[in-house]
Amino acid sequence: MSAQELAANAQAMVSEGKGILAIDESNGTCNKRFQKLGIPTTEEARQAYRQMLLTAPGIGEFISGPILYDETIRQSTKDGTPFVKVITDAGMLPGIKVDTGAKELAGHPDEKVTEGLDGLRDRLAEYYQMGARFAKWRAVITIGEGIPSRACIEVNAHALARYAALCQEASIVPIVEPEVLMDGDHTIERCYEVTEEVLRTVFNQLITQGVVLEQMVLKPNMVISAQDCPQQASVDQVAEATVRCLLRTVPAAVPGIAFLSGGQSNELATANLNAMNAKYGSKLPWKLTFSYGRALQQPSLESWKGEKANVPTAQQKLAHRAKCNSAAATGSYSEEMEKQMAAV
Ligand code: 13P
Repeated sequence: MSAQELAANAQAMVSEGKGILAIDESNGTCNKRFQKLGIPTTEEARQAYRQMLLTAPGIGEFISGPILYDETIRQSTKDGTPFVKVITDAGMLPGIKVDTGAKELAGHPDEKVTEGLDGLRDRLAEYYQMGARFAKWRAVITIGEGIPSRACIEVNAHALARYAALCQEASIVPIVEPEVLMDGDHTIERCYEVTEEVLRTVFNQLITQGVVLEQMVLKPNMVISAQDCPQQASVDQVAEATVRCLLRTVPAAVPGIAFLSGGQSNELATANLNAMNAKYGSKLPWKLTFSYGRALQQPSLESWKGEKANVPTAQQKLAHRAKCNSAAATGSYSEEMEKQMAAV
């Protein structure tokens, strides 16, 4: 694939009013979510769930592509259509999570480093053959007493850049995801400080290692107050701090930034994205959109509960969140849109 095609795919991933659907939970994480709702933790149930999501009518209008897990990219619908074909037939690009998880960082208690570089070149070649056109690698940075350490930030940034360079070599667009967690009780100011340092370090490594910025998508956290912080920043404060942080750290050559939801409530994740685009959208050099997991799937999963009879309602719930976030990606979301769904 030519450099132009890679850049065109990166742009397609963040094209006007479209975002990414993260359904790349590992089997362990997917099973945990199923267990809470009494859904069997079997391959069959995971297939049925992903089929329900991927075949939701009309999602191709709001979603540029889903991120799949290794098990999922190899699966088909019950009637034998490969998921990759379902995705491309809906006008979307197939994506694949390629990291193998965040593991304890030696010598640094409570900090993690993401693994998965060994053998990655061969895995990427196989995924490309299977139809994957973009990939994801998630690094995890925890804020706490005396952390994150420089070591944690540097090793994760280094690995993200090594992954991204390998992806581009394999004609796959890398989603570069350095996630500063919202766990804890830190303030929005502390989140800003850490996110800024992390993004600076990540771009430093991307540039050092020759990653082509036009051929990638950044997937950061928003700059927000931690879950247990007594002072919760407002939607306007989150929008202002996040945009300021990104303008100071993300080169204009990057086509788009697709946020993770990170544990924010569904509607807050939408409102925060909307505020950024409504207030600052016209002044930004890159697209700001979503690459949500929980904030897109949760209402749908809760409606589905593993029952075939619930599929149409569960699909409507997914399409609704996708539509609201699509509107937020252009700054045109409103509370009215939520009420429309409540009336269905
Ligand atoms: P959340 O939106 O649930 O944080 O998930 C996004 C994701 O892909 C995390 O890697």
